[in-house]
Amino acid sequence: MVKLAINVDHVATLRQARGNTEPDPVTAAALSELAGAVGIVVHLREDRRHMQDRDIHILRQTIQTKMNLEMAATEEIIQIALDIKPDMITLVPEKRQELTTEGGLDVVANKAKLKGCIDRMTEAGIPVSLFIDPDSDQIKASKEIGATFIEIHTGRYADATSEEEEDQEFDLIAGAAEEAYEEGLRVNAGHGLNYVNVSRIAALDTIEELSIGHAIMARAIFTGLTQAVQEMKALITAARHSF
Ligand code: PXP
Repeated sequence: MVKLAINVDHVATLRQARGNTEPDPVTAAALSELAGAVGIVVHLREDRRHMQDRDIHILRQTIQTKMNLEMAATEEIIQIALDIKPDMITLVPEKRQELTTEGGLDVVANKAKLKGCIDRMTEAGIPVSLFIDPDSDQIKASKEIGATFIEIHTGRYADATSEEEEDQEFDLIAGAAEEAYEEGLRVNAGHGLNYVNVSRIAALDTIEELSIGHAIMARAIFTGLTQAVQEMKALITAARHSF
């Protein structure tokens, strides 16, 4: 069954808007787990625009399920990861001006740098996922440099403005997931998934886990976090039976 991991960065974004202590992403992580999430995802950005070092350290001690640390392959953040030892890391590209992670990693062009990071994590017993676009060359390069997982970027599928475009993007994701799975990579997916577009992706049996943040936190403002998580979980569970 596809698993649901919750990204709690968005709670930290709201807190940072005031620069005080609420809402606390640590509380959001605990509530998400109680509501059925099987993993918590946090992105410690170099510019610390949402998650803070304090959050990462507390979450490392309090997460009961699995901590997936999203990060850029920079020396400062690599050191933090090696220090706190999350259950896995996901390497993402990071640009200072972007609103959110805009595109997948260019693994092909950055093989040596990414391999160096993967080797250090592997030595420390931390599995690495690479956040990539649904592209065959990126999948092959990810396999070649020793990634355990890939996370397929679903942003273009989520942002599609016509049914035709959505179908095309869906086909790319389905094909990429199949190819990566056949290569022996474990496959996650995420970015921009919401209550309307998640079902088709959740129905793909080559995908292990979905990482979802914004849509759940947006709904949580109105329904509460427990209900928002449970409703997403119900949708992805039902998807495996209905497609
Ligand atoms: N996966 C990755 C690598 C991301 O950077 C993000 C955004 O923080 C997500 C998944 C979740 O995306 P969203 O918040 O749009 O659900």
